[in-house]
Amino acid sequence: MTMKIAALLAALTLGSSLTAPALAQQAASPAPSTVGTRQSAEARADALVRAMTLEEKLQLVHGYFPPLAKPVPPIAMIPSAGHIPGIPRLGIPTLRESDASLGVANQIEQRKGDVATALPASIATAATFNPKLAYEGGAMIGAEARAKTFNVLLAGGVNLTRDPWNGRNFEYLGEDPLLAGVMVGEHIKGVQSNHIVSTIKHFALNSQETGRTVLDARIGMAELRESDLLAFQLGIESGKPASVMCAYNKLNGDYACENDWLLNKVLKQDWAYKGWVMSDWGAVHSTEKAAINGLDQDSGQELDDAMFFDTKFAEAVKAGRIPMACLDDMVRRILFGVIDSGLMDDPVPESAQPIDYARHAEVAQRAAEEGIVLLKNQGDLLPLARTAKKIVLIGAHADVGVLSGGGSSQVRSVGGAPVEIPLTKGAAASFARITWHASSPLKAIQALAPGATVTYLDGSDAKAAAAAAKGADMAIVFAWAWRTEAQDPESMALPDDQDALIDAVAGANRKTLVVVEAGGPVLMPWVSRVPAILQAWYPGQRGGEAIANILFGKVAPSGRLPITFPVAVSQAPRPEPLGLAELHAADARRDAGDKTVYGMSGGVASFPVDYPEGADVGYRWYAAKNRKPLFPFGFGLTYTAFRYANLKVSDGAGLTVAFDVTNSGKREGADVPQLYVEAKSAAGTRAYRLAGFEKVRLAPGETRRVSMTVDPRIIARFENDAPGGHTAGWVVDAGTYPVRVGHFAGDAALAGTARLDRVTIKP
Ligand code: BGC
Repeated sequence: MTMKIAALLAALTLGSSLTAPALAQQAASPAPSTVGTRQSAEARADALVRAMTLEEKLQLVHGYFPPLAKPVPPIAMIPSAGHIPGIPRLGIPTLRESDASLGVANQIEQRKGDVATALPASIATAATFNPKLAYEGGAMIGAEARAKTFNVLLAGGVNLTRDPWNGRNFEYLGEDPLLAGVMVGEHIKGVQSNHIVSTIKHFALNSQETGRTVLDARIGMAELRESDLLAFQLGIESGKPASVMCAYNKLNGDYACENDWLLNKVLKQDWAYKGWVMSDWGAVHSTEKAAINGLDQDSGQELDDAMFFDTKFAEAVKAGRIPMACLDDMVRRILFGVIDSGLMDDPVPESAQPIDYARHAEVAQRAAEEGIVLLKNQGDLLPLARTAKKIVLIGAHADVGVLSGGGSSQVRSVGGAPVEIPLTKGAAASFARITWHASSPLKAIQALAPGATVTYLDGSDAKAAAAAAKGADMAIVFAWAWRTEAQDPESMALPDDQDALIDAVAGANRKTLVVVEAGGPVLMPWVSRVPAILQAWYPGQRGGEAIANILFGKVAPSGRLPITFPVAVSQAPRPEPLGLAELHAADARRDAGDKTVYGMSGGVASFPVDYPEGADVGYRWYAAKNRKPLFPFGFGLTYTAFRYANLKVSDGAGLTVAFDVTNSGKREGADVPQLYVEAKSAAGTRAYRLAGFEKVRLAPGETRRVSMTVDPRIIARFENDAPGGHTAGWVVDAGTYPVRVGHFAGDAALAGTARLDRVTIKP
């Protein structure tokens, strides 16, 4: 939502106008009597399209942005992301759209006092490696959306993490297409189990925030199919989202929301997707081109530089520049999504309903408890004995709450925001504040250690913190790094001298634990000087309780990293966001009073972002470059140990791998055994790819046989269309494929070989 409110208000004043469509009235056909739940969603959508007038069709292909909209005639809208008026005579519901994946959002508290349950960041849910929790979280937020009368959740963010610094990594599901695809599919299923619509987004390659509305992301088409698009493909197949949200950026030269290859060829033709494509907010740049190239609905139209799907669209249809068949297909797709998700037959209530927030908080807590990753635990510092006498907490407002990520996903959580810091500059300033959820680690720790003295210092004085830490049974430094939509950090180092604070405390007390609240990796120059590190991500509105439960071993940590943590940014494919020069130039012009610097682009000139790593995202890049990261993908410790044995590889036409997992330690715990298979990509590179994972909870001494069947596309290479009639698709070449079962990427606790037959699969 770059500058959504402030700058775009300016854009409107600079000349856009809201003219009502001047269209000839058509006689309305009666509502189709054939409509009935026993017919297929396609047939019902078709019948409705036949019964609609031109005006009714045009009404569905563009949505209002409530904070800026002035529809004629005026209609009531809930302050939120979007509104598309329904057609009561045909039973077509008004679409009320809200963000999104972490809970029903309420950015900068646009609906005063409207709270919702805040899940941990999606990256934390990914770290659970537990698809059931992704489903539960989706089902919970979908239920809250419904109870608040929203019926479209702009959820399902699944852009792969290509750069560890991307501002929005916290909203996504990590760097691996299988993990991200499985988790997003379950999340969407959960949302839509409430008979409301979920999106999957941002389609595709919106992989950095700097200049996101102007940048041109460039990548090989086959490599994209094997990486980011594979995550979308898996998520769409299993989650069946009613809608796909196209992204802000350009992809190989064309904006994603008017990209024929992406929308028509890949999504609608190859994947036979039947739902509708809605734009991201302010991501539309044309009328005919966008409609013909596959965009079905313009969202938040007041945010575009001009309202392309309003009057202009009606004129293009009347003049025949947009064929009626094209409009009919757009409308049919919207109706298919509305019917297929169950929304048409089970409309959301007219007024807000009660919500069981206490029960929903437990869902948020479970996700946090399973998503927190224990990165280091030298000398078994954790779990902490409940008999501890003195515990000192330092920093990050750990007395009152836990940090959350910023932007359109921001939830105003139950309990409110004990700390909220407005921004004074940057692209997120108009719609984000640095916000803490009211879940106090201090109180939660105190509750589990009633005999201990638990004190808190804010960390602003490193010397005082070190003095207080001296002699404590444990010193816990809460480190924080805020991330937000619309901005990338220019450094991955902890802000505000926190590295020096950690050094000072670790120097004073060798029992120092660092709890990191961040949307992804941060630089840890102190990694060898502290014995224990817990990656808590943004742990949501029960984060304090979840952290405390892990500290004292009430819950054994079981999270695993869904992204690689680099030692230094120089290890990553792009050490900093591209386009910073263009961004700074636009800022300078704005500061100098240049009035043309406004709108979604913020005056930033377009620039290319090349992704030469292709499908070798994350851990595959590190393996290919032979770079040893600080903590690898899939890594995470716990309070017991797990052993793998008895590998059996069943190969031939397909691949199934079975093995035993044993809890060889003394405590109950959950493990995430991971299957990696080495395969060749379209670009000719060979890399181990995550081909299976499972969360296994075992009592001490218990053994369970685990079996994983590999989706052949995970180990295939993608072949583009070629001259001479060859059509595109997935190919598993006949040959041998090295197989590993391990605790993280690069680990080979068990190793074997599969011999596979040649298999081809449709794109
Ligand atoms: C974000 C989307 C969000 C939309 C509506 C955009 O700025 O990129 O993720 O759903 O705003 O708030």
